Amino acid sequence: MWRSLQGDLPADQKIAEEKELLARIDRSRLPLHIAIIMDGNGRWAQRRGLPRTFGHRAGVESLREIVKLCVELKIKYLTVYAFSTENWKRPREEVNTLMSLLIEYLQKEIDELCANNIRINPIGRLEDLPASAQEAVRMAREKSRQNKGLTLNVALNYGSRSELAAAVRAIAKRVRDGGLNPADIDEKVISDHLYTAGQPDPDLLIRPSGDYRVSNFLLWQLAYTEFWFTPVLWPDFRRVHLLQAIVDFQSRERRFGGLL
Ligand code: IPE
Ligand code: IPE
Ligand code: MG
Repeated sequence: MWRSLQGDLPADQKIAEEKELLARIDRSRLPLHIAIIMDGNGRWAQRRGLPRTFGHRAGVESLREIVKLCVELKIKYLTVYAFSTENWKRPREEVNTLMSLLIEYLQKEIDELCANNIRINPIGRLEDLPASAQEAVRMAREKSRQNKGLTLNVALNYGSRSELAAAVRAIAKRVRDGGLNPADIDEKVISDHLYTAGQPDPDLLIRPSGDYRVSNFLLWQLAYTEFWFTPVLWPDFRRVHLLQAIVDFQSRERRFGGLL
């Protein structure tokens, strides 16, 4: 009421749009696994004349909101790309801010994440993270280990090629040690050596910010994933955008190479 008296229609329209989208979603055909490349933080800040790091801070708010919606929708797996193996190329100050934000997020949010039955599963070359980040990651994993609701895979120092190289090394070692016959190396053996072992492949990949690429994210796991792109920058990404992506996902025909 107050809002409409102020003439603040967009907020009301947003609520109406969210309601309408929620009503359109078929709860029996939700994606089991959603993956998101949280991109566009730097541009968001630059467009406001702010340092890029402000965009990363704003992006954490989007993550909070989207995790909450996934819990409400009872999505089983959410994988978010937070830091790639290539992101070390950025200025040291930006990398330090990203690490600090990660630590802050995990420390501040862990109790609420646990209260929502979320299991935090950090994935990537975690051993190459700074010690303080490794400690935060270990704490979050441990505290949430028993949770059975949403599994939140946080991709940190993650690169899909690095993941595949690590899988090949582990498989080669098993062969060398006599535990595995090369003839038995099939797709399942490879999947079982990835960070996402035991999880279904993503049904839906979302990349905000208007770039149309996968940037070394889940190359193996995305084989039959549906892609959804939006020009919206990650710090502006809200519940309505995830709902739009899910509605669009539900309108697609997935054939997996077969016929319907
Ligand atoms: C995504 O936003 C966050 C990380 C890569 C860590 P960017 O920082 O890539 O933002 P843009 O793409 O430069 O706008
Ligand atoms: C991908 O975004 C990595 C993350 C969002 C963490 P980038 O901004 O690093 O990717 P490119 O450089 O645009 O491909
Ligand atoms: Mg980017």
